[in-house]
Amino acid sequence: MIHILLIGSGGREHAFAQALAKSPNCKQLYIMPGNAGTSQHGINVSIDVNQFHLVGQFCLDNQISLLVVGPEDPLVKGLRDFFMADPKLAGIAFVGPDKAGAQMEGSKDWSKKFMQKYGIPTAAYQTFTQNTLEEGLAYLENHSLPIVLKADGLAAGKGVLICHSVEEAQAELKEMIAAQKFGSASEKVVVEEFLQGIELSVFVLCDGKNYVLLPSAKDYKRIGEGDTGLNTGGMGAISPVPFANAAFLQKVETQIVSKTLAGLQAEGIHYVGFIFVGLMNVNGEPKVIEYNSRMGDPETEVVLPRIQNDMVELMMAAGTGKLNEVKIEIDERTAVTVMLVSKGYPEVFERGKVMSGMDSVVGSTLFHAGTKLSEAGELLSNGGRVMAITSLGSNIQEALNLSLQNAERISYENKYYRKDIGFEFL
Ligand code: AMP
Ligand code: GLY
Repeated sequence: MIHILLIGSGGREHAFAQALAKSPNCKQLYIMPGNAGTSQHGINVSIDVNQFHLVGQFCLDNQISLLVVGPEDPLVKGLRDFFMADPKLAGIAFVGPDKAGAQMEGSKDWSKKFMQKYGIPTAAYQTFTQNTLEEGLAYLENHSLPIVLKADGLAAGKGVLICHSVEEAQAELKEMIAAQKFGSASEKVVVEEFLQGIELSVFVLCDGKNYVLLPSAKDYKRIGEGDTGLNTGGMGAISPVPFANAAFLQKVETQIVSKTLAGLQAEGIHYVGFIFVGLMNVNGEPKVIEYNSRMGDPETEVVLPRIQNDMVELMMAAGTGKLNEVKIEIDERTAVTVMLVSKGYPEVFERGKVMSGMDSVVGSTLFHAGTKLSEAGELLSNGGRVMAITSLGSNIQEALNLSLQNAERISYENKYYRKDIGFEFL
C-alpha cells in the first residue's frame, strides 16, 4: 500500500487516476493539479509543477513512493533530473524520462537524427536554421509536394505545416525561422517528405532496460466530421486499430520499437516512461512520424481501459526496472472514446457552463478533460476539451453507439462532439 503522485490535469490523467486508485496497492493518490474528475479518485494538489523544489518537498511530506508524469512539459524541463540529483528523492519510483530522453519529443531535429543514425524507418528530411536559410529556400525548389515543415521545439501541437506549393513552403520557412513564427521552437525547422497512408499510434512502456508494448490506438484530430476543419488535441480515439494486426505489429516491434530502445541505450539514455510512437502505415510498412515522451490524450482513454494489469504494479515495475517480470494482459474488446468539447474549440472557446446528466450515463466511463467544481459544488466546463466518454464493445460500431447514446445524456450549453469516430473502419 503506497502513496502515489500523478502529475497532470486532463482526460489522460483522469484515466490514470481511476486505474491507479482502483488498485489494492494504492493507499492514497494525489493529483497535481488534477481536475474535477480526478478528485473522485484522490486529492487534487494545487502546486505549480514547474516549481520542482515544491514538488519534491510535497513528495517528502507525503511519503510518495511512486510518481507518474502525464504531460511532456515538466519532463522536457528536467523534473526527473531534479529528482535523481537529490538523494532524498532519487529513491522514488519515477515514471517519466529525463531531459535527455524527453528530447524524443522536445526536439524534432534530434529525433530525426536519432532515427537516421539507428536505421529507423521515417520520412526523408533536412534541417535548416537562420544560418542555412538560403540553402533551405533553394532546397525547397526541388522538393516533391506536399512539403512538411516542422518547428524543432514544442509548439503546443501547432508546429507542423503541410504546404502544397514551393512558394507557400518558402514563405512559411522564412516565417518560421526569420520571423520566429513559433518563437524559439522554430529557430530550427525540419523539412520533411510527405508520407501517404493511415496514421496510428503504438505505446511503449520502458524501465530503462526492458519494455512492454501497450495496445495500439488511433486518434481523430480534426474538429469536423470526416476529418475536416482545424486540428485539435483530439476529438476521439479507438483501440485497437483494425489494420494493426499481428503481422503489422511485428514489423513495428522489430523495425521500430526494438531499434528505438537499442538506440536510446547506445546514446546512454536511461529511458524510464512511455514512448508514444506516431506512425504512418505506408502500404503496409510502418514509418515513424513522431515520438512523444508521454501517453497520448485521448488515446490513453481507450488504451488504459483495455489494460487489465494492476496499474500500480505496472507503474512500479517500470519505475524500478522490473518490467521483465510483467506480462501485459489486454481486454480483447474494442474501446472507443468520444470527446465532448466547448463551443469555439480549438480557437477561443467558452468555459464555465453548468454540466448535468452525468448520473444518467449507463455502460460508459467518463473521463473529465477540462472541468472544475464551482464553490456551490456544481460541475462546470473548464477547457476546450471537456469530457471523454469511453465505451467497450465487440466492435467499433457497438462501442461508438454506446458512447454516442451517453453523449446525449450529458448536457451543457453548446455541447459539441464528433459522431463519426472510427468512421473509416465502419
Ligand atoms: P505532429 O505535430 O508531429 O503530430 O504532426 C501533426 C500531424 O501532421 C501528424 O499527426 C500528421 O497527420 C501530419 N504529419 C506530420 N508529419 C507528416 C509527414 N511526414 N507526412 C504526412 N503527414 C505528416
Ligand atoms: N492525441 C495526440 C497527442 O496526445 O499528442
